[in-house]
Order: sequence, then C-alpha cells, then structure tokens
Amino acid sequence: MAIDVILGLQWGDEGKGKIVDYLASQYDVVARFQGGPNAGHTLKFDGQKFVLHTIPSGIFRKNLINLIGNGVVIDPITLEKELKKLDEVGTDYKDRLFIANKAHLILPTHRYIDAASEAAKGVEKIGSTLKGIGPTYMDKTGRNGLRVGDVFSPNFREKYELLRAKHLGLLKLYPEFDFNLEKEEAVWFESIEVLKKLINVDGEYFINDQLKQGKKVLAEGAQGSMLDIDFGTYPFVTSSNTVTSGVCNGLGVSPHQIGEVIGITKAYCTRVGGGPFPTELLNATGERLREAGGEFGATTGRPRRCGWLDIPQLRYTIMLNGVTKLVITKIDVLDEFEEIGVSLAYRYNGTLTDRMPFDICDGVIEPVYEMHAGWNTVLSGKTDFDGLPEAASNYVKFLEEKLETPISIISVGPEREQLILRDIIEVV
Ligand code: GDP
Ligand code: IMO
Ligand code: MG
Repeated sequence: MAIDVILGLQWGDEGKGKIVDYLASQYDVVARFQGGPNAGHTLKFDGQKFVLHTIPSGIFRKNLINLIGNGVVIDPITLEKELKKLDEVGTDYKDRLFIANKAHLILPTHRYIDAASEAAKGVEKIGSTLKGIGPTYMDKTGRNGLRVGDVFSPNFREKYELLRAKHLGLLKLYPEFDFNLEKEEAVWFESIEVLKKLINVDGEYFINDQLKQGKKVLAEGAQGSMLDIDFGTYPFVTSSNTVTSGVCNGLGVSPHQIGEVIGITKAYCTRVGGGPFPTELLNATGERLREAGGEFGATTGRPRRCGWLDIPQLRYTIMLNGVTKLVITKIDVLDEFEEIGVSLAYRYNGTLTDRMPFDICDGVIEPVYEMHAGWNTVLSGKTDFDGLPEAASNYVKFLEEKLETPISIISVGPEREQLILRDIIEVV
C-alpha cells in the first residue's frame, strides 16, 4: 500500500489544512512528517473554524488515526492547548492520536534562543514565527536534543537540566534579552504530563505496520517547498525538509512507498516573513489581494505579503516534489480582479531565465508577466468545472499547460465542501 503526500508548493499557507481535512475521509491514517507549531492549518466545517499547529488535519474525521511523526518538533504547551480545543468541542482523540517517540521536543529555552537570535539579526531577520523551530532542529542535528520517548526515562529531568544549562550559556550572548524561565518551565513540565498520557509509538514501525495491513496513509506537509531548508530561499527558510523526500525521513518510510504527490498552490502567491518573493506586489493590487484573501497569518496574525502566481517558481517545486496532481486554492479571491497576472520568466542580472537563481537573495529579480482577463463572477458556490465562466476555466487550463500537471481540485472557498473536483483523487 502506498502513502500519498499533500504539501504546499509556495511559501506556506496554501490551504493544506482545508484540503487534508477534505481528503482525509478517504484515508485511514493522516501523518505529519516535519515542522511544528510554526504551522497554522485552518479547517472550516459545520460553521466552526479550527487552526491546528501540531495535530494532523485528519483529527476531525471520526475513527481516523493521526500520527505526529518523528520529523516533527513538538512544543508540549502548544500541543496541550490544541488538545483542550478538541476537548471543548467533544472531539475524542485519545485512542487515535499517536506520537512518535523520536519526535524532538521544543523547550522554553529553544523559544528564547529563537527570539533572541532573531532580534539580534535586526533588518536581516528571517521573520521566524519564534516558536523555537530553528534552535530545536539545531539541537537535533547537533545531537543534543530531547525526544518524546525521553520523557519516560528516569533521567529525564537530568537530561533536561543539561540542555537547559547549555541554552542558558548561549543566551548569555544576548544580555539584553529578558525572560522568565522558572514560570514558563513550570507550565512546560505540566504539559509534559499531558504528553505522557498520549499514545507513544515507534513511529517508523507503526506506519509500516499500517501500510502492511493495507491501510491508506496520507502524509500532511507543513510550510511550503520554498521554505525547504535545502531548496528554499536560503537563509529565509524554515529548518526542515518540507519537500516529498522529507516524508521518508520524517515518518520512516521508504521512497518506494510514496504514491500520489498532491501539490497545493494558491491561485496567486503569498509569503509571510522576510526573504525574496519575485512576484510580490508592493502596491494597491497587493493590498487588494491581502484584503480579498484575508491574508493574515494563522499562527502569528502577521499580514502576509501578496503577489501574482509565479510559473518558474511552481515548476521548480513541482520538479523537486515529483508532483502528480495539483490542487489550486483561493481562486475565488480573484473574482473581482479585472486582470490577473502570471509570471512566466524572470529578468535576473541582465538575462532572461525560467529557473530559480542560486543567489536569489542578493540580486534584483524582475518577473516577466502575462496578463489574463478576470471573470468578474462569484465562484464560491460553483461545484462543477463546466459551470465556470470561460475566463476562469481558461486560467485553470493555462496553468495546467504551463505546469504540465493536471489540476484535480479547485478550491472556491474556505469551507470543507467548497470544491470543484475535476478528476477524483482515487486512493488505492
Ligand atoms: P495552510 O497553512 O496551508 O493550511 O493554510 P492556512 O490555513 O494558513 O491559510 C489558508 C487560509 O485560506 C485559511 O484562512 C483558509 O480558511 C483559507 N482558504 C483555504 N482555501 C480557500 C479557498 O479556496 N478560498 C478562500 N477564500 N479561502 C480559503
Ligand atoms: P504553514 O504550515 C507560512 C515562515 C516564517 C519565516 C520562516 C521561518 O501554516 O504553511 P520558522 O518559525 O520556521 O523559523 O520561520 O518560515 N513559516 C511559515 N510561513 N506558513 C507556515 O506554515 C510557516 N512556517 C514557517 O514566517 O519566514
Ligand atoms: Mg498556515
């Protein structure tokens, strides 16, 4: 049995939560494989709205198993808050939320180091969500980290104290940075007790057993491919591999087991935080996209930077991920635009290119746009591709041709069922 993957092809916030929540009904297991509480995945159904940070977006589908994989970094405090929200709405998760023992823990001091080092960067700052992601992955690769399985060890406190001492040493580099560790630490240890009550598993055995039993597994990406630690707009990236290959490391499955790779893109483009964004519109049109799309961060509330869709960027991430099917979201946000721009190439250092330049952070990159007619029609109630105005269906067909990948689903609103299904994604 293969494991299908859903991930973002831009700089995050493509609508992964909504699409995973919708498709989850066809699967038995949904698993997060990387990232942590920097993610904010929004789900809307039955008049309710939920934002998930650590818990997979399959949690609201009854009987479905959800796994937080070893590649994820977990802040027990955020996790506890998320669990409380599930309790409030009566969503029972106790026997179907599993956590990999090898997932790393975010300590309060990881968050402090994140905040202090970002502040010290001044204008060069990455625009991190300040959730401690970078420092936690640094400790993982530096072989200092604490893992979920460690909480059951009789030496857990000792291991914690060692890491804490190392962090306090590092924080001395930022004497102006103020923090109240004792208070935060007490809350953290209370949350560890909640974490202990969840079902801890050896994630790699767990997921492979599920696959062997013929269970259908969906891997849910966080962030977007342009934030990938290797292939994103480095150093303005996150600290994990957000691309398909991250599924193998982040869950413990072999590349042979990967089935469909479903890539999600908005009908335009956004980015939150610093770093290059070739098609960013620093004008009234960008502002209009932000307003129409409600483009404010689900995790931090920050306004998202907005711009037109970027074909070279998408072709790059489709290549990296081996995308087999595309989902386009938020097409309804373009309803009232007279014209819609799409970048087909870049002018970079005097040459025309359709590739992402290595030194994209250093030069001035100028997109070459093609303008398309808008449709001036409300798309939010549409359920049928043939019912779309010609300008909208032409826009979709144009993208499909340029991206050389079929667009299987078009999302026309934030609600679970606001979708146009073109070819049903068949789960085998
Ligand atoms: P994620 O991080 O990829 O899960 O995306 P976010 O939840 O951070 O941001 C996507 C936002 O767009 C959320 O507010 C969603 O409710 C909303 N959304 C998702 N799909 C659509 C859509 O097709 N149309 C509109 N208007 N909003 C959508
Ligand atoms: P979802 O899963 C959008 C961005 C931050 C910052 C950079 C590094 O909701 O799509 P980090 O906290 O990882 O050190 O931040 O990455 N970023 C996201 N942007 N969506 C996300 O997640 C993001 N997670 C991190 O804004 O620029
Ligand atoms: Mg998000």
